[in-house]
Amino acid sequence: MMKFAIFHTSVLSLTVSGAMAQTGILDLTRLDNYANQSKPAYILRDNTPQGPNPPANAITNLGATLGRVLFYDKRLSRNGTISCSSCHQQSVAFSDNNTASPGVAGSTGRHSMRLINSRFSAERRFFWDERAISLEDQTTRPIQDHVEMGFSGTEGDPTFSDLVTRLSAIEEYRVLFAAVYGDATITEPRVQRALAQFVRSIQSFDSKYDVGRAQVANNNDPFPNFTQAENNGKTIFANPPNQGGAGCAGCHRPPEFDIDPNSLNNGVIGKIGGGTDLTNTRSPSLRDFLNPQGQLNGPMMHDGSLTTLAAMINHYVAPPTNASIDPRLNRPPLNLNQTRRDELIAFLRTLTGSAVYTDPKWSSPFNASGQLTLIVLPATAARLQPNAGATTAVFSATGVPGLSYSVESSTNLVQWNPVTTVTASSAGALVHAVTLGTTTTFFRFTYTPPAS
Ligand code: HEC
Ligand code: HEC
Repeated sequence: MMKFAIFHTSVLSLTVSGAMAQTGILDLTRLDNYANQSKPAYILRDNTPQGPNPPANAITNLGATLGRVLFYDKRLSRNGTISCSSCHQQSVAFSDNNTASPGVAGSTGRHSMRLINSRFSAERRFFWDERAISLEDQTTRPIQDHVEMGFSGTEGDPTFSDLVTRLSAIEEYRVLFAAVYGDATITEPRVQRALAQFVRSIQSFDSKYDVGRAQVANNNDPFPNFTQAENNGKTIFANPPNQGGAGCAGCHRPPEFDIDPNSLNNGVIGKIGGGTDLTNTRSPSLRDFLNPQGQLNGPMMHDGSLTTLAAMINHYVAPPTNASIDPRLNRPPLNLNQTRRDELIAFLRTLTGSAVYTDPKWSSPFNASGQLTLIVLPATAARLQPNAGATTAVFSATGVPGLSYSVESSTNLVQWNPVTTVTASSAGALVHAVTLGTTTTFFRFTYTPPAS
């Protein structure tokens, strides 16, 4: 009459390690910590919507887990070849070494952006040109882009609702959406909220900068763990040009190193493939633009045109002017000799963390053949899925003969409501008949020992 779509067996043992990424097992009984990660006390900027408008979207472990699955799933692209992670790779701070990233129909018009600490910015708009009004708004745009993932509804592409139809037919999504949202319905806002939670969870605060910053009262104090060159570089980064600095901090603001929301373009106005583009006023956080080995996580700027640190510093020493350049960069060349350039670079190297490159919670949940092999639900919980046309289903399990168990139901795997009690038969059989409604419901038998 029914099948246990996906269920937990208590004998299943799992090793939680980096190897998890390859097993394709998603264990909802041992969710990774996305919601309550520690962050330094000096990190105050946060673009998480607080509600009511736009609706609050605090990270939850289940929501970010769904976001992780979506982020790594190639089925979110028209022809099943591209996922978000194709262009946002963990090994390069969720960016891409390619200047332009290949999508389902050609390659991107701009360089991919790092997704490190996306949450910790005052700027709430996303993309180089800030055309997305929020991270939630941003997340489904690549899916609906003709070049990137191809559910654009134009040029012969399928539409987003075709994607909803595709995902709704996938068992693991019915389970995951039901677990996160209380029913299995897939909508664009639900996809957006889960993806935004996952992206906001990607944080990096274990850099040398953080070790030093935690020991002083403010950014301008010398950091005890820094070399003299690094401390000098920190001052050059912070001070405005008229005080002998390079003025970087005015736009890339420590300690988040997020972009000043008022920044205009920085004088980089090239376009991949030729032409000019004056619209780029956002930068991702400068944290982790270098990897732990000190190499660039992909070329710099929206057009990927700056490929060495020396070229980047040269650009800022004397920014070429244009009609809408930020006035702070419309200035005489900086007076920055080689020693001071080296010090500035030494400081920039302190902004890189390490865990974010390797933590499995930000890695692909799929196995090597791109599948989820098992979703583990809380103990003895089962999602009842009727055969077509069935109006009732039987939920059964094995218990201890003669003991009374409580039958509990849930629509979100968090809140469990008692339904009735059943007593296990002499063979240990626990059986409960359920009338099926329209809502996906999870059931479990629980046994509570009598108080002594
Ligand atoms: C084909 C490559 C490609 C794919 C696939 C892709 N992106 Fe991107 N992503 C980019 C590029 C390129 C940009 C910058 C585009 C621009 O500014 O016009 C970007 C920008 C972003 C940004 C903005 C970051 C910031 O700081 O403003 C976020 C967030 C993001 N992508 C998340 C995602 C998510 C989530 C997905 C999957 C649903 C995804 N991307 C799929 C290439 C890609
Ligand atoms: C007036 C604001 C402003 C100032 C001052 C400024 N920047 Fe930028 N920076 C930006 C903007 C805007 C971008 C994104 C530009 C683009 O790609 O079109 C950017 C991009 C960058 C990038 C590339 C980021 C990436 O993800 O590719 C680096 C590195 C950088 N800036 C370093 C610096 C340094 C070092 C200084 C000081 C010497 C500095 N910036 C001064 C506004 C500024």
